[in-house]
Amino acid sequence: MIFGRVKPLDAILATAEKKSLHRSLGAFQLTMLGIGAVIGTGIFVLTAEAAQKAGPGMMLSFVIAGVVCAVAALCYAEMAAMVPVSGSAYTYSYAVMGELIAWMVGWALILEYAVAAGAVSVGWSGYVVGLIENAFALDIPDALVRGPYDGGIINLPAMLIAGLVTWLLVIGTKESAFVNSVLVLVKVSALSLFIILAIPVMNMQNFEPFSPLGFAGVSAAAASIFFAYVGFDAVSTAAEETKNPQRNMPIGLIGSLAICTIFYLLVAAGVIGSVGAQPILGPDGAALPPGSTELTKACVETAAATGKEAVVCSKEALAWTLREIGWPQIGNLIGLAAGLALPSVILMMMFGQTRIFFVMSRDGLLPAVFSKVHPKFHTPHVITILTGVFVALFAAFFPVGKLADISNSGTLFAFAAVSIAVLVLRRTDPDRKRPFRTPLIIITAPIAILGCAYLFYSLGHDTKMMFVGWAALGLLVYFGYSRRKSHVGRGIVETPEHEAYQELDPPVPGTH
Ligand code: ALA
Repeated sequence: MIFGRVKPLDAILATAEKKSLHRSLGAFQLTMLGIGAVIGTGIFVLTAEAAQKAGPGMMLSFVIAGVVCAVAALCYAEMAAMVPVSGSAYTYSYAVMGELIAWMVGWALILEYAVAAGAVSVGWSGYVVGLIENAFALDIPDALVRGPYDGGIINLPAMLIAGLVTWLLVIGTKESAFVNSVLVLVKVSALSLFIILAIPVMNMQNFEPFSPLGFAGVSAAAASIFFAYVGFDAVSTAAEETKNPQRNMPIGLIGSLAICTIFYLLVAAGVIGSVGAQPILGPDGAALPPGSTELTKACVETAAATGKEAVVCSKEALAWTLREIGWPQIGNLIGLAAGLALPSVILMMMFGQTRIFFVMSRDGLLPAVFSKVHPKFHTPHVITILTGVFVALFAAFFPVGKLADISNSGTLFAFAAVSIAVLVLRRTDPDRKRPFRTPLIIITAPIAILGCAYLFYSLGHDTKMMFVGWAALGLLVYFGYSRRKSHVGRGIVETPEHEAYQELDPPVPGTH
């Protein structure tokens, strides 16, 4: 195809058939899986950052990001059901658009998964630190619990949780469907409690001005808050374990996204209405960037001058809001819920990352040591530990919003690539069996591609530059190493990868 070197789809599928997982998941389990993977740092923490970018207009941002995710999810599901193997967007692209694009997608997925795991670790830290400080009337020095951009030196709790999750993955912990359901219940109860307490004390004047920074602000917040929806691909990757995927996949995907969107809108309305969510502006009238030293400084000054903090300054927006409206104990309870539930989101993200590295290594594009399997635990321990080290370092030194934005840039690239792949394959291979077909693909796929491009464009300049730098580094690695070592390039199509993979492959976390 476009760049030569395509991994034959039939070879990929033949190995997938050998794997033949039992089809046991229905629409309800898929929806639970989706909610479990999706609700996390986005709503619990980034609501404050979205408010700093868009003010009350962030409600529109939640809708925009949700719609882009929904159309991308429908395209993703067609691929996932047709090519039900590990490696997600990377594998699909390899089959359809060739090795170079697949490599770039895999490279971008590192941003999606590893950087996102770092972001969620920082989010977890904000809540747990807030909980400990408020419940035990302690003051933990910022230097130890915040990164350098947030007025500290190192975020030790975030490093700790990243390390703990790495250890769980190395020893092969499988999150069961039961644990996933319990955590979904914890998260949904926490958000419901928040809504029940915040909505009745709403003051409609807090919605004025609705969009103080115009549509550009709303778009910028949408690009960031997109993070709150990421994770639904966990549902797509369970395609091969789904009963009647044509019916259940779209219900699981759209159902979980719809439920999350409704919760997000109500929570956002609760925050805006109860405590106000206007951005803090700099001397030039522009909003100070979230996660910047300028904003951290302005937050301290505002608090000193008015004796009141602002929600846009909080690292635990929902707990802070409840304390502010007179429910300190329930605020702590929300902190506890976030503390319990967010590690499972980190686990999902890191699991996805290690499996993608594993497949890329088995394809020869990354060194073989990456796919070494631990003799006792049957997990890819080398790559899991390496991933864990990087996640811990991101978490230690970077602010949550920056990490989320960088992660979004990679995710948007991967989603756009998959949406293109689905369209291409409908033309080049129209008769292939498709257990799930994207409805109205001729409209859905272009909207997904344009939506991803629009959100990518709305990310901050630094984030886009970072992505370009990362992509350039990826090309260097590809042409300097991977292209020569590629199994497809060297004519080795029958790799032993999948036998080894079957040995190690525990099901997607939260499915069984
Ligand atoms: N959607 C996930 C979260 O918000 C990644 O934490």
